Amino acid sequence: NLPATVRIVEVGPRDGLQNEAAPIPTAVKIRLIEDLAAAGLSEIEAGAFVSPKWVPQMADSAAVLAGLTRDPRKRYPVLVPNLQGLEAALTAGARDVAVFAAASESFSRKNTNCSIDDSIARFEPVLSRARSAGVPVRGYVSCVLGCPYEGEIAPEAVARVAKSLIDIGCHEISLGDTIGVGTPLATQRMIGAVAEAVPIPQLAAHFHDTYGQALANLLAAMQMGISVIDSSVAGLGGCPYAKGATGNVATEDVVFMLDGMGIQSGIDLTRLAEAGWRVLRHFDRAPQAGVSRALWQK
Ligand code: HMG
Ligand code: MG
Repeated sequence: NLPATVRIVEVGPRDGLQNEAAPIPTAVKIRLIEDLAAAGLSEIEAGAFVSPKWVPQMADSAAVLAGLTRDPRKRYPVLVPNLQGLEAALTAGARDVAVFAAASESFSRKNTNCSIDDSIARFEPVLSRARSAGVPVRGYVSCVLGCPYEGEIAPEAVARVAKSLIDIGCHEISLGDTIGVGTPLATQRMIGAVAEAVPIPQLAAHFHDTYGQALANLLAAMQMGISVIDSSVAGLGGCPYAKGATGNVATEDVVFMLDGMGIQSGIDLTRLAEAGWRVLRHFDRAPQAGVSRALWQK
């Protein structure tokens, strides 16, 4: 039941860089996004129009979009937490946006300062404004396999939030294992519950690799028919509201696995790894991700 092709949504320039402590020049972000596009990524999350007090690292997202040479065949979504963020994103020329909710009440409050239900209510005007602007909206659900504050999360809670996001008009739901605690059978149970409310083709897997389980969980997700995978070049990232969380699964690791299984992604692994190394040179770090490090040593 494995998919023949997988669409990778590269989230490194947003989910990865939002967690870096030191300021990153806008030009470094732009170069990274352009390098990723050149490596074959067709969808690259380019920033977030969130409160700069909450996530300072994303404060230059408008400048990133303005400076970017965009390939018209590619998509460069940005996160928006509310109408204010959407208006700023539209003004900056965003053509794809994403809203983000959580399956855990505590995480919802820490990340967006409101309850789950209030977050959905806040997104309703965002979705209707985006619809009138002709801008598709993706919906994220965080903490789908565990919460840093509440521990285990019931699959039904994930399904409920995913369904709410679809009901208000999101075209795709990205299921976030924010703290990377999922394991393969739990992943399949969670996807099974969500699939009763949202068709599998509308679901994406967004797994962080904190406990080294992400590739195994992705295989388990693909066995359930999931064919959209979020990942971060060089495994950049973490989450500012989830202590100890490391980056998303590395795009290099995902592409190596897909290549080995004969699943098409359209991505050139060498150019992808080079894109990661270039941004790591800026941070003066070696790659953390397995495949990126293995290629680096050659
Ligand atoms: P709040 O403080 O409740 O908002 O934050 P507020 O509406 O009361 O506004 C307070 C101030 O923020 C005001 O400014 C607003 O203008 C400003 P002041 O009058 O005090 O000077 N403000 C904004 N500024 C810029 N852009 C905006 C915006 N909205 C309000 N859009 C809010 C509520 C949602 C804004 C805040 O909690 C926030 O920005 N949160 C973002 C958190 C975030 O970005 N987290 C990381 C992304 S989610 C993630 O990483 C998970 C994911 O990867 C999936 C996974 O792994 O699970 C997607
Ligand atoms: Mg994430």
